[in-house]
Amino acid sequence: MVIGLFKEKMKREGQQQMSLKSLSAQTHKKEVLRDLFGRTITTLRISVTDRCNLRCLYCMPELKMQFVQRESLLTFEEIYRISKIFVNHGVDTIRITGGEPLVRRNITTLLKKLNGLKNTGLRKLKMTTNGILLKQYAPELATSGIDQINVSMDTLNPTKFQKITQLGSLERVLEGIKLAQKHKIKVKVNVVALKGFNDSEIFDFINFSAKNKVTVRFIELMPFNGNKWNKNKFVSKRELLSKIEEKYEVTPLPKESISQTSTEYKILPINATIGFIASVTESFCSTCSRIRLTAEGFLRPCLHSNIETNLREPLRKGCTDEEIAEIIKQTISRKPKEHEDFLAPFYIKSIKDRPMIKIGG
Ligand code: 5AD
Ligand code: SF4
Repeated sequence: MVIGLFKEKMKREGQQQMSLKSLSAQTHKKEVLRDLFGRTITTLRISVTDRCNLRCLYCMPELKMQFVQRESLLTFEEIYRISKIFVNHGVDTIRITGGEPLVRRNITTLLKKLNGLKNTGLRKLKMTTNGILLKQYAPELATSGIDQINVSMDTLNPTKFQKITQLGSLERVLEGIKLAQKHKIKVKVNVVALKGFNDSEIFDFINFSAKNKVTVRFIELMPFNGNKWNKNKFVSKRELLSKIEEKYEVTPLPKESISQTSTEYKILPINATIGFIASVTESFCSTCSRIRLTAEGFLRPCLHSNIETNLREPLRKGCTDEEIAEIIKQTISRKPKEHEDFLAPFYIKSIKDRPMIKIGG
């Protein structure tokens, strides 16, 4: 009866031919997750490991890393259960991160399982990877339902690539990107902007974007525990954009959603697409829709605050989905309004927090 009325309404609005699948998604009203500042949580970022096959200088802390023990890692079943609860509460995007997510054994088994949540409201399944294992995984990623991958690639110079990642091979990443595209996976490239290291390469990246039909996004360097952040290494979006505008006319692209963190531009004459993630100079906290799950099951409402809730323990103690959902809601109610001003004169990163590699970006 209700479905009948709903069908009538859709017809009146001129939307015929609605599939049964989307109909049931629409009729099932979800309780959404909203924080105290009115922001709705729609993106869950899941770190599946804190291990990585690279050692990027701005990411890995100096001290020898203590990796999470296997038994402390969330299992795929646990990750799936948490994800399902989130999707039932309005989360429509899941991004898999690390460390390096492709080093987690059988990762595609998890992806395929998560992809099944597209029947209950998940719209996009994405991954951030350093691309080293992409060549090996691209075909299987494509059949696992991945919609987009962001590949971190901070330089187009093989020697510099080796230097910044300490272990990596640029050639492998480039081959991985090509193969992923061949398998119809949408690829975006992430470049952490580093003064004196890659700010001289912006036009090479623009040409790379044009030639390879990928969006290249420059990320402002953020401070994390152990990454020796300082203003001398920092390059702002403004600086980069000004340099680009001296050579090209850039056309701003509309945002895909209000919570999109990047501002993207088209360079029409050469058909390149570039973007900036200006987390330092143009903080996007007011429209933040993200929450993070660490590899060992801590829920983290803000990338830059050490507030966390242990979800693994209640899961393993046998809590019900309703009880887990309650813990999630309480954690979201502690989401800070915004991060500190990293460029403030006496800003110093607290050492009482995780390094980036243990959060997942
Ligand atoms: N500042 C900005 N971006 C960073 N990343 C890692 N560390 C930092 C940092 N300090 C990037 C990675 C990857 C994404 C997850 O975050 O290069 O693209
Ligand atoms: Fe690994 Fe990414 Fe950190 Fe580099 S930035 S060490 S690829 S997790």
